Amino acid sequence: MSSDLQPGNTAAARAVPPEVLMSLQDVEKDYVTEAVTVHALRTVNLEIHRGEFVAMVGQSGSGKSTMMNIIGCLDRPTRGRYILDGIDVTHRSNDARAVVRNRLIGFVFQGFNLLPRTTALENVELPLVYRGVSAGERAKRALKALQSVGLADRLHHTPNQLSGGQQQRVAIARALVTQPPLLLADEPTGNLDTRTSYEVLGLLQDLNRKNKITIVLVTHEPDIAEYATRIIGFRDGRVRLDQPVTKRRFAADELAKFEAELEERSA
Ligand SMILES: Nc1ncnc2c1ncn2[C@@H]1O[C@H](COP(=O)(O)OP(=O)(O)OP(=O)(O)O)[C@@H](O)[C@H]1O
Ligand SMILES: [Mg+2]
Repeated sequence: MSSDLQPGNTAAARAVPPEVLMSLQDVEKDYVTEAVTVHALRTVNLEIHRGEFVAMVGQSGSGKSTMMNIIGCLDRPTRGRYILDGIDVTHRSNDARAVVRNRLIGFVFQGFNLLPRTTALENVELPLVYRGVSAGERAKRALKALQSVGLADRLHHTPNQLSGGQQQRVAIARALVTQPPLLLADEPTGNLDTRTSYEVLGLLQDLNRKNKITIVLVTHEPDIAEYATRIIGFRDGRVRLDQPVTKRRFAADELAKFEAELEERSA
Protein backbone atom coordinates (compact mmCIF):
# COMPACT_ATOMS: atom_id res chain seq x y z
CA MET A 1 0.00 0.00 0.00
CA SER A 2 1.23 3.46 -0.80
CA SER A 3 2.48 5.37 2.20
CA ASP A 4 0.42 8.34 0.96
CA LEU A 5 -2.85 6.64 1.75
CA GLN A 6 -3.20 7.97 5.24
CA PRO A 7 -6.47 8.53 7.07
CA GLY A 8 -6.37 12.32 6.62
CA ASN A 9 -6.28 11.86 2.86
CA THR A 10 -9.57 10.05 2.58
CA ALA A 11 -11.60 13.26 2.80
CA ALA A 12 -13.10 14.25 -0.53
CA ALA A 13 -11.62 17.27 -2.24
CA ARG A 14 -13.67 20.45 -1.91
CA ALA A 15 -14.94 21.95 -5.16
CA VAL A 16 -12.60 24.46 -6.81
CA PRO A 17 -13.99 27.32 -8.94
CA PRO A 18 -12.28 27.77 -12.35
CA GLU A 19 -10.55 31.03 -11.41
CA VAL A 20 -8.61 29.23 -8.71
CA LEU A 21 -5.28 27.91 -10.02
CA MET A 22 -4.08 26.36 -6.76
CA SER A 23 -6.18 25.05 -3.92
CA LEU A 24 -4.51 23.70 -0.78
CA GLN A 25 -6.99 21.95 1.47
CA ASP A 26 -5.96 21.13 5.05
CA VAL A 27 -2.42 20.53 3.85
CA GLU A 28 0.08 19.22 6.38
CA LYS A 29 3.63 18.15 5.85
CA ASP A 30 5.67 16.10 8.31
CA TYR A 31 9.31 15.27 7.84
CA VAL A 32 10.08 12.11 9.72
CA THR A 33 13.69 11.59 10.68
CA GLU A 34 15.18 9.07 13.09
CA ALA A 35 15.45 11.60 15.89
CA VAL A 36 12.34 13.75 15.43
CA THR A 37 9.26 14.42 13.37
CA VAL A 38 9.13 18.00 12.09
CA HIS A 39 5.68 19.42 11.41
CA ALA A 40 6.83 21.68 8.59
CA LEU A 41 3.27 22.61 7.54
CA ARG A 42 0.23 22.49 9.83
CA THR A 43 -3.29 22.64 8.39
CA VAL A 44 -2.73 25.09 5.57
CA ASN A 45 -5.78 26.22 3.63
CA LEU A 46 -5.06 28.52 0.71
CA GLU A 47 -6.50 29.45 -2.64
CA ILE A 48 -4.41 31.25 -5.21
CA HIS A 49 -6.23 32.67 -8.22
CA ARG A 50 -5.02 32.82 -11.80
CA GLY A 51 -3.13 36.05 -12.44
CA GLU A 52 -2.09 36.69 -8.84
CA PHE A 53 1.44 37.70 -7.86
CA VAL A 54 1.97 36.20 -4.42
CA ALA A 55 4.92 36.75 -2.10
CA MET A 56 5.50 34.13 0.59
CA VAL A 57 7.40 35.44 3.57
CA GLY A 58 8.46 34.13 6.96
CA GLN A 59 11.46 33.38 9.09
CA SER A 60 13.97 30.70 8.28
CA GLY A 61 12.40 27.29 8.92
CA SER A 62 8.81 28.58 8.79
CA GLY A 63 7.86 26.29 5.88
CA LYS A 64 8.22 28.43 2.75
CA SER A 65 10.34 26.02 0.71
CA THR A 66 8.24 23.09 1.90
CA MET A 67 5.23 24.98 0.56
CA MET A 68 6.95 25.71 -2.76
CA ASN A 69 7.87 22.04 -3.15
CA ILE A 70 4.26 21.04 -2.66
CA ILE A 71 2.73 23.66 -4.94
CA GLY A 72 5.46 22.89 -7.51
CA CYS A 73 4.51 19.17 -7.41
CA LEU A 74 8.03 18.28 -6.33
CA ASP A 75 6.75 16.84 -3.06
CA ARG A 76 3.43 15.62 -1.69
CA PRO A 77 1.53 16.66 1.41
CA THR A 78 1.47 14.16 4.28
CA ARG A 79 -2.22 14.92 4.78
CA GLY A 80 -4.77 17.06 2.98
CA ARG A 81 -5.19 17.78 -0.72
CA TYR A 82 -3.63 19.84 -3.43
CA ILE A 83 -5.65 20.74 -6.52
CA LEU A 84 -3.67 22.40 -9.33
CA ASP A 85 -5.48 23.71 -12.40
CA GLY A 86 -8.48 21.56 -11.55
CA ILE A 87 -6.39 18.41 -11.16
CA ASP A 88 -6.18 16.68 -7.80
CA VAL A 89 -2.46 15.92 -7.83
CA THR A 90 -2.34 14.71 -4.20
CA HIS A 91 -2.01 11.03 -4.99
CA ARG A 92 -0.53 11.18 -8.48
CA SER A 93 2.60 9.15 -9.13
CA ASN A 94 5.97 10.84 -9.57
CA ASP A 95 5.72 10.43 -13.33
CA ALA A 96 2.21 11.85 -13.50
CA ARG A 97 3.27 14.82 -11.39
CA ALA A 98 6.27 15.37 -13.67
CA VAL A 99 3.88 15.63 -16.61
CA VAL A 100 1.73 18.19 -14.76
CA ARG A 101 4.86 20.09 -13.75
CA ASN A 102 6.18 20.20 -17.31
CA ARG A 103 2.94 21.52 -18.65
CA LEU A 104 2.13 24.08 -15.98
CA ILE A 105 5.15 25.25 -14.02
CA GLY A 106 8.35 27.18 -14.57
CA PHE A 107 10.88 27.21 -11.73
CA VAL A 108 13.46 29.83 -10.85
CA PHE A 109 15.69 28.56 -8.07
CA GLN A 110 18.10 30.54 -5.99
CA GLY A 111 21.61 30.13 -7.38
CA PHE A 112 20.22 29.93 -10.92
CA ASN A 113 21.00 26.21 -11.56
CA LEU A 114 22.38 26.94 -15.03
CA LEU A 115 24.66 24.42 -16.72
CA PRO A 116 28.22 25.74 -16.83
CA ARG A 117 30.15 25.62 -20.15
CA THR A 118 26.77 25.76 -21.87
CA THR A 119 25.60 28.88 -23.65
CA ALA A 120 22.60 30.96 -22.62
CA LEU A 121 20.74 29.76 -25.70
CA GLU A 122 21.45 26.09 -24.98
CA ASN A 123 20.49 26.49 -21.32
CA VAL A 124 17.15 27.94 -22.32
CA GLU A 125 16.59 25.24 -24.96
CA LEU A 126 17.01 22.46 -22.41
CA PRO A 127 13.36 22.14 -21.21
CA LEU A 128 12.35 21.83 -24.89
CA VAL A 129 14.87 19.02 -25.45
CA TYR A 130 13.03 17.03 -22.77
CA ARG A 131 9.79 17.66 -24.62
CA GLY A 132 11.13 16.40 -27.93
CA VAL A 133 10.83 19.73 -29.75
CA SER A 134 12.88 19.84 -32.99
CA ALA A 135 16.25 21.63 -33.01
CA GLY A 136 15.12 24.43 -35.28
CA GLU A 137 11.99 25.12 -33.26
CA ARG A 138 13.97 24.98 -30.01
CA ALA A 139 16.41 27.64 -31.17
CA LYS A 140 13.56 29.84 -32.32
CA ARG A 141 11.66 29.63 -29.02
CA ALA A 142 14.79 29.99 -26.88
CA LEU A 143 15.79 33.10 -28.82
CA LYS A 144 12.35 34.58 -28.24
CA ALA A 145 12.50 33.84 -24.51
CA LEU A 146 15.95 35.42 -24.23
CA GLN A 147 14.75 38.46 -26.17
CA SER A 148 11.87 38.82 -23.74
CA VAL A 149 14.31 39.09 -20.82
CA GLY A 150 16.55 41.54 -22.70
CA LEU A 151 19.40 39.17 -23.48
CA ALA A 152 19.29 38.92 -27.27
CA ASP A 153 22.91 40.13 -27.38
CA ARG A 154 24.25 37.44 -25.03
CA LEU A 155 23.00 34.25 -26.66
CA HIS A 156 26.35 32.53 -26.93
CA HIS A 157 27.78 33.55 -23.57
CA THR A 158 28.31 30.85 -20.96
CA PRO A 159 27.13 31.55 -17.38
CA ASN A 160 30.62 32.58 -16.17
CA GLN A 161 30.67 35.21 -18.93
CA LEU A 162 27.45 36.76 -17.61
CA SER A 163 26.71 39.02 -14.64
CA GLY A 164 24.61 37.69 -11.75
CA GLY A 165 21.53 39.52 -12.97
CA GLN A 166 22.02 38.26 -16.51
CA GLN A 167 22.36 34.70 -15.20
CA GLN A 168 19.15 35.16 -13.27
CA ARG A 169 17.44 36.42 -16.42
CA VAL A 170 18.66 33.34 -18.33
CA ALA A 171 17.13 31.24 -15.54
CA ILE A 172 13.83 33.12 -15.96
CA ALA A 173 13.95 32.68 -19.75
CA ARG A 174 14.50 28.96 -19.22
CA ALA A 175 11.51 28.82 -16.88
CA LEU A 176 9.36 30.62 -19.45
CA VAL A 177 10.37 28.92 -22.67
CA THR A 178 7.64 26.31 -22.29
CA GLN A 179 5.11 29.12 -21.73
CA PRO A 180 3.83 27.84 -18.39
CA PRO A 181 0.90 29.63 -16.75
CA LEU A 182 2.66 29.46 -13.34
CA LEU A 183 6.09 30.68 -12.33
CA LEU A 184 7.61 29.72 -8.96
CA ALA A 185 10.63 31.67 -7.77
CA ASP A 186 12.55 30.97 -4.55
CA GLU A 187 14.50 34.10 -3.52
CA PRO A 188 14.95 35.26 -7.14
CA THR A 189 16.83 38.39 -6.09
CA GLY A 190 18.82 36.66 -3.34
CA ASN A 191 22.33 37.28 -4.64
CA LEU A 192 21.74 40.39 -6.68
CA ASP A 193 22.76 44.02 -6.22
CA THR A 194 20.11 46.71 -5.88
CA ARG A 195 19.90 47.74 -9.51
CA THR A 196 19.82 44.17 -10.78
CA SER A 197 17.15 43.25 -8.23
CA TYR A 198 14.92 46.01 -9.60
CA GLU A 199 15.50 44.72 -13.12
CA VAL A 200 14.53 41.18 -12.20
CA LEU A 201 11.49 42.36 -10.20
CA GLY A 202 10.46 44.56 -13.14
CA LEU A 203 10.67 41.58 -15.42
CA LEU A 204 8.48 39.51 -13.08
CA GLN A 205 5.95 42.34 -12.80
CA ASP A 206 5.79 42.62 -16.60
CA LEU A 207 5.32 38.88 -17.02
CA ASN A 208 2.53 38.95 -14.48
CA ARG A 209 0.77 41.98 -15.94
CA LYS A 210 1.31 41.60 -19.68
CA ASN A 211 1.57 37.83 -20.08
CA LYS A 212 -0.90 37.04 -17.27
CA ILE A 213 1.50 34.58 -15.68
CA THR A 214 0.66 33.66 -12.10
CA ILE A 215 3.72 34.15 -9.90
CA VAL A 216 4.57 32.81 -6.46
CA LEU A 217 7.78 34.20 -5.05
CA VAL A 218 9.54 33.35 -1.81
CA THR A 219 11.49 36.10 -0.10
CA HIS A 220 12.73 36.88 3.38
CA GLU A 221 12.87 40.61 2.56
CA PRO A 222 9.68 42.54 3.41
CA ASP A 223 10.55 45.18 0.76
CA ILE A 224 10.61 42.63 -2.02
CA ALA A 225 7.22 41.25 -0.96
CA GLU A 226 5.68 44.68 -1.71
CA TYR A 227 6.21 44.15 -5.43
CA ALA A 228 3.62 41.39 -5.30
CA THR A 229 -0.16 41.83 -5.10
CA ARG A 230 -0.63 39.59 -2.06
CA ILE A 231 1.53 38.63 0.89
CA ILE A 232 1.24 35.30 2.66
CA GLY A 233 3.24 35.04 5.86
CA PHE A 234 4.28 31.73 7.44
CA ARG A 235 5.23 31.04 11.03
CA ASP A 236 5.93 27.58 12.44
CA GLY A 237 4.31 25.94 9.44
CA ARG A 238 1.08 27.93 9.64
CA VAL A 239 -0.27 30.80 7.57
CA ARG A 240 -0.18 33.73 9.99
CA LEU A 241 -0.83 36.53 7.57
CA ASP A 242 -2.65 36.74 4.26
CA GLN A 243 -3.33 40.20 2.88
CA PRO A 244 -3.34 42.25 -0.31
CA VAL A 245 -0.43 44.65 -0.85
CA THR A 246 -1.93 48.07 -0.25
CA LYS A 247 0.95 50.27 -1.36
CA ARG A 248 2.45 48.23 -4.12
CA ARG A 249 5.94 48.99 -5.33
CA PHE A 250 6.74 49.09 -9.03
CA ALA A 251 10.23 48.17 -10.08
CA ALA A 252 10.34 50.66 -12.95
CA ASP A 253 9.61 53.56 -10.54
CA GLU A 254 12.08 52.32 -7.93
CA LEU A 255 14.78 51.95 -10.56
CA ALA A 256 14.21 55.52 -11.79
CA LYS A 257 14.40 56.80 -8.19
CA PHE A 258 17.57 54.82 -7.61
CA GLU A 259 19.21 56.23 -10.75
CA ALA A 260 18.20 59.78 -9.81
CA GLU A 261 19.71 59.40 -6.35
CA LEU A 262 22.95 58.08 -7.82
CA GLU A 263 23.13 61.04 -10.17
CA GLU A 264 22.45 63.49 -7.35
CA ARG A 265 25.22 62.01 -5.26
CA SER A 266 27.76 62.16 -8.05
CA ALA A 267 26.80 65.74 -8.98
N1 LIG B 1 14.05 17.03 4.22
C1 LIG B 1 13.80 17.44 5.46
N2 LIG B 1 13.88 16.58 6.51
C2 LIG B 1 13.61 16.97 7.75
N3 LIG B 1 13.26 18.21 8.10
C3 LIG B 1 13.17 19.13 7.11
C4 LIG B 1 13.44 18.80 5.74
N4 LIG B 1 13.27 19.90 4.99
C5 LIG B 1 12.90 20.88 5.84
N5 LIG B 1 12.84 20.43 7.11
C6 LIG B 1 12.43 21.20 8.30
O1 LIG B 1 11.13 21.72 8.04
C7 LIG B 1 11.02 23.06 8.49
C8 LIG B 1 10.60 23.97 7.35
O2 LIG B 1 11.68 24.03 6.43
P1 LIG B 1 11.63 24.92 5.10
O3 LIG B 1 12.79 24.53 4.27
O4 LIG B 1 10.29 24.81 4.49
O5 LIG B 1 11.83 26.39 5.69
P2 LIG B 1 11.97 27.81 4.94
O6 LIG B 1 10.85 28.66 5.43
O7 LIG B 1 12.08 27.59 3.49
O8 LIG B 1 13.34 28.37 5.55
P3 LIG B 1 14.51 29.25 4.84
O9 LIG B 1 14.05 30.69 4.85
O10 LIG B 1 15.66 29.04 5.78
O11 LIG B 1 14.78 28.72 3.48
C9 LIG B 1 12.36 23.40 9.12
O12 LIG B 1 12.24 23.27 10.50
C10 LIG B 1 13.32 22.39 8.55
O13 LIG B 1 14.35 22.09 9.46
MG1 LIG C 1 13.69 27.92 2.09
